[in-house]
Amino acid sequence: MSKPTTLLILGASGDLTSRLLLPAIGQLLEREPDRHLMLKGAGSDAWSERRWKEAVRTAFASAEAEDQVERVSDTTYTKADVTDAAALTGLLDGITGSLVIYFALPPAVTAAACGVLKDLTLPEDTVLALEKPFGGDEEGARELNATLLKIVPEHRIFRVDHFLGRSTLLNILGVRFANRLIEPVWSADHVQSVLVRYDESLALEGRARYYDKAGAMIDMIQSHLLQVLAILAMEEPVDLDEIDLRDAKSAALRATHIWDDNAVRSSRRARYTAGTIDGRELPSYVDEEGVDPSRQTETLAEIVCEVRTSRWAGVPFTLRSGKALRDKTAEIVVAFKPVRHIPDGLTGAPADGGLLRLSLSPDRIELELNVNGGDDPFALRREKLSTRIGRSTLQAYTEVLSQLLDGDVALSVRGDAAEECWRIIQPVRDAWARGEVHLEDYPAGSLGPAEWATSH
Ligand code: BG6
Repeated sequence: MSKPTTLLILGASGDLTSRLLLPAIGQLLEREPDRHLMLKGAGSDAWSERRWKEAVRTAFASAEAEDQVERVSDTTYTKADVTDAAALTGLLDGITGSLVIYFALPPAVTAAACGVLKDLTLPEDTVLALEKPFGGDEEGARELNATLLKIVPEHRIFRVDHFLGRSTLLNILGVRFANRLIEPVWSADHVQSVLVRYDESLALEGRARYYDKAGAMIDMIQSHLLQVLAILAMEEPVDLDEIDLRDAKSAALRATHIWDDNAVRSSRRARYTAGTIDGRELPSYVDEEGVDPSRQTETLAEIVCEVRTSRWAGVPFTLRSGKALRDKTAEIVVAFKPVRHIPDGLTGAPADGGLLRLSLSPDRIELELNVNGGDDPFALRREKLSTRIGRSTLQAYTEVLSQLLDGDVALSVRGDAAEECWRIIQPVRDAWARGEVHLEDYPAGSLGPAEWATSH
């Protein structure tokens, strides 16, 4: 049995805890029979212990981990104002061994709770786990980081990004670094463009309180897709540990800027109107409960970036994500430049020199090659070689949680990287706030505004 770790969830009665965190804990216990976990919940709702235990049971059941409920049968729930010093002291009382404090809270409450925690005495080796967004802009992220560092050192701060969940991340690393066919051509010499796209058919799902202030840009591009860009664009890390991997990612982010420094031409935004997805009628985003139309929140966003290094200068990295689209399309598409010359006699010159597509969840790799053959043996056409990779049955959250409980922060977002991600998108936020980029419309269930059809 591993040494016990106490996982103290602040915001335990909230949606994130029941929807993502508790199922992930159930799945983790299912996979790790030796893991010794003490689960403590605290939240603003006046839940009874029974109600909390029921929430744990339901969440574990949703992850097919009912059998694991026994292992956290001594779990407790406390109604507490986690921004109050006495309440926090009470929650920490009697905790021995390793402690992970998980802030499943809105950013402002997290910041306030941290402001109080910095003056309290915590068990040695305490790890703090925070949900995105980390601050509200570069300055806010810097302030939050400064407060966090007064509580614990950086290597004990886990800024959770479930996109960095192990299988997805490692799939990119393996494909990129372990193939002679790919590794030497991973640069502007050979790559024409990179697209990171995360289109969802899910809509608002009752999250207006959070989403209407974040929008697609902050919810997805700032927090997740720039992390994916960092992994695609970084130089090879010496080791995949918390230092080398995160140094390499941060260096890539520091070199990343909005294309041409022109936020107006290098960004697009749109918002869904009423429509149908899989037979489900959806109202216009502005008619969803809790939405304030005057905020002009986008539900689909796209930015083009340049990674200004000798490896990547001149290659557009397009990051795009949206909700209420027809299909879920989560992919990285690396298009290679056309070859320098094709022999006379081969017809149908292709627009690119082949393409690598990495689809996320389910993870799949696809290589599109220009080939000839068939009825006209000299005519070029496209063939796809495609296979599933990394058949992980674990939810990304479970993968992240396992590392977190082990105190391994390699796959968490380091403080400076969080600040960089805000810095990168700020010119776009400013241009949007000035109304310089038109907010377009697309019907829910469509592929987005017609003219957004990408070249890929
Ligand atoms: C979350 C966003 O971080 O990631 C959601 O807040 C989004 O809006 C989700 O739907 C996408 O990730 P996944 O793994 O649920 O597809």
